[in-house]
Amino acid sequence: MTDIKNIVTLGVGLMGQGIAQVALMAGYNVTLVDINDELVNKAYSGIEVGVKKSEEKGKLGEGITTADIMGRCKKSTDLASAVKDADMVIEAVIEKMEVKKQVSKITMDNGPSHIIFASNTSTMSITEIGKDCGAPDRVCGIHFFNPVPLMACIEVIKGGNTSEETFNSAMDVANSLPVLRGKRYIAPVLKDRPGFIVNRLNAPNHIYLHWVFDQTAEKGIPWGQLDADVAGLMPMGPIELTDYVGIDTFYHIDNYYAETLSPDFKPGKVITKMFEENKLGRKTGQGFYNWKENLTPKGRPTIDKSTKAGMFKAEISMAIALNEGCRLLEEGVASGYKVIDDANMAGMNVPGPFGMGKKQYQKWIDMLEDLANKTGKEYLKPCELMKTGKFLEMRK
Ligand code: 3HC
Repeated sequence: MTDIKNIVTLGVGLMGQGIAQVALMAGYNVTLVDINDELVNKAYSGIEVGVKKSEEKGKLGEGITTADIMGRCKKSTDLASAVKDADMVIEAVIEKMEVKKQVSKITMDNGPSHIIFASNTSTMSITEIGKDCGAPDRVCGIHFFNPVPLMACIEVIKGGNTSEETFNSAMDVANSLPVLRGKRYIAPVLKDRPGFIVNRLNAPNHIYLHWVFDQTAEKGIPWGQLDADVAGLMPMGPIELTDYVGIDTFYHIDNYYAETLSPDFKPGKVITKMFEENKLGRKTGQGFYNWKENLTPKGRPTIDKSTKAGMFKAEISMAIALNEGCRLLEEGVASGYKVIDDANMAGMNVPGPFGMGKKQYQKWIDMLEDLANKTGKEYLKPCELMKTGKFLEMRK
């Protein structure tokens, strides 16, 4: 197995920073790489703040200081030279296939002959990313969840050409990364399908959300009322979470699903307009909510949740997820439904659908048929494994 000591984190936006922080805290030497000094310097400062917070809580280990950890952090704007002595690159660049392919090739052309390229893509084919880089066997996926230091789940993905050695090294690295809340949970993803496990499980909820967002806008209902619909049931409502992850991420992901899973995923009017107007949520300071002013002490928008819109139903959302979970089992992406439920809990802090679905699925079939008719989205119709209830006979 490859002995990993030096990691390059490529693309140091919010996710890349989180990845770099946990890698540094695990003891790796980390080089931050992005396209200009401003981005790299901003990331370095952001990571330092996070490490300092951990130091204040005594989470760095006996006698270890922020300065010790940041002393292992280098900065670069040139990937080709940064990979020269690296053992692994973890990329979190923009969700564009041609960019991912380009950086995987630069890595393999310039890195040592054992270097591993791990993509943190949310949805895209690992096989395709690595296909033309010269060493597809050393390409895999290591997929994190936002905010990286606090979310327990990491998915490790085997592409069509990923070697056992690469996969095992990636599993080892993932297992070595600390998480500041709860216990680290690694979900091995056995098949390279769009969205892997957690994102795929929640993907068709985007179809529902685009429809709900557009209806809510048409009716002129304030966005906070949608988040109020699930207050107490989810750590963040659908609007805040969309802003938190980023409208651009949501937009690119759904266009990718529209190409690879079903045209029903095409982003709706609201998200498309926000994307075009560069209202990307937390990262630009303005999305559905204002993320610059009137923030809570935790830096989140102040949301008036006193009235519910009655538009977003958590139970429908669970039914949609159960249907997709069944598709994941049909496709052999996860080894059983417990992995799917556990990964969702560790990646989103929301229970997976199988726990409840085992008892409710017959009622949920009718809800899905009804929703598919109302929205005109065929993809929401229950799949065979759910309709027949045969998922109950499958491996836990
Ligand atoms: N380093 C060290 N400490 C940190 C830190 C960091 N980088 N970031 C935050 N902290 C600390 C905070 O300072 C805080 O400390 P305190 O308790 O002493 O004040 C502590 O960690 C907890 O932070 P918060 O108070 O902000 O945490 P909350 O309890 O409010 O929870 C949340 C925030 C975990 C984001 C919660 O709202 C949640 O679970 N939301 C859902 C997130 C989710 O669904 N993520 C997945 C999105 S999908 C995805 O990412 C996939 C991708 O492919 C798109």
